[in-house]
Amino acid sequence: ELVSQIKGLDDMESILKRELGYKKIIVVPGDSDKDPNVKKELGNVAALYLSSVIRHKDIIALTGGSTIKEMVNSFPKMDFRDNLIVPARGSLGRIIDIQSNNVVAALAEKVGANYKLLNVPDNLSNESLEVLLKEKEIREVVDYIRNTQILVLGIGRADKMAARRGLSEEEITKLLEEGAVGEAFGTYFGKSGKSIRRINSVGICLDDFKDVQHMIAVTGGSSKAEAIEAVRLHNRNAVLITDEGAARKIVSIL
Ligand code: BG6
Repeated sequence: ELVSQIKGLDDMESILKRELGYKKIIVVPGDSDKDPNVKKELGNVAALYLSSVIRHKDIIALTGGSTIKEMVNSFPKMDFRDNLIVPARGSLGRIIDIQSNNVVAALAEKVGANYKLLNVPDNLSNESLEVLLKEKEIREVVDYIRNTQILVLGIGRADKMAARRGLSEEEITKLLEEGAVGEAFGTYFGKSGKSIRRINSVGICLDDFKDVQHMIAVTGGSSKAEAIEAVRLHNRNAVLITDEGAARKIVSIL
């Protein structure tokens, strides 16, 4: 029983590292579902971690989401004048505040970095995508994303993310019936890393980041435990920054 191996946060970190395939796990005390300050702390730790790995001239790609937004909010005052920040995907849903374009611009303004925006919806038909990718401005951003050194991403519950992406109730039911529980970077996962479905965005998916130097997943809350367990990033440099609420529950369902 994995649960019996747990004494403190350190033990939990090593179990999760091994079972979920991360290079490093950082667990913040508390449960962000129960206390908004824990989500702030999660953002704060993610900000410190990101700021410690950034090098001159690195490109940094960010997904959107409320957790990444917390990271940007608590970013320390630093000077990243020669860095470029780009959205990792197109925009999704209607909550402008947490869209990747928005968090990218907010972080760039904070640290004086350059940035690019990607003004395309998240789920396009292949035909529209083909046309859009011919646009120089879009092509350029997509090339930056493909050459990023650092990818920071959120992980969400499949049901919540499908709804945020505007899928119909029928589509959501179907997705969940197929076993989807977690979502990261447009891929829906079933328990223990089973890939269920992929939303293409600008033609880039998780597999395109196999060699990225830093992949930092930031996500917490006990209600996301199944989702976090499901997602497997398949990257030997992947780091997970999460909270105790999620971590304890993940260990109990492994
Ligand atoms: C999105 C990412 O913007 O944030 C998703 O593209 C992720 O892949 C989601 O699942 C998580 O959002 P939140 O608000 O739960 O941090």
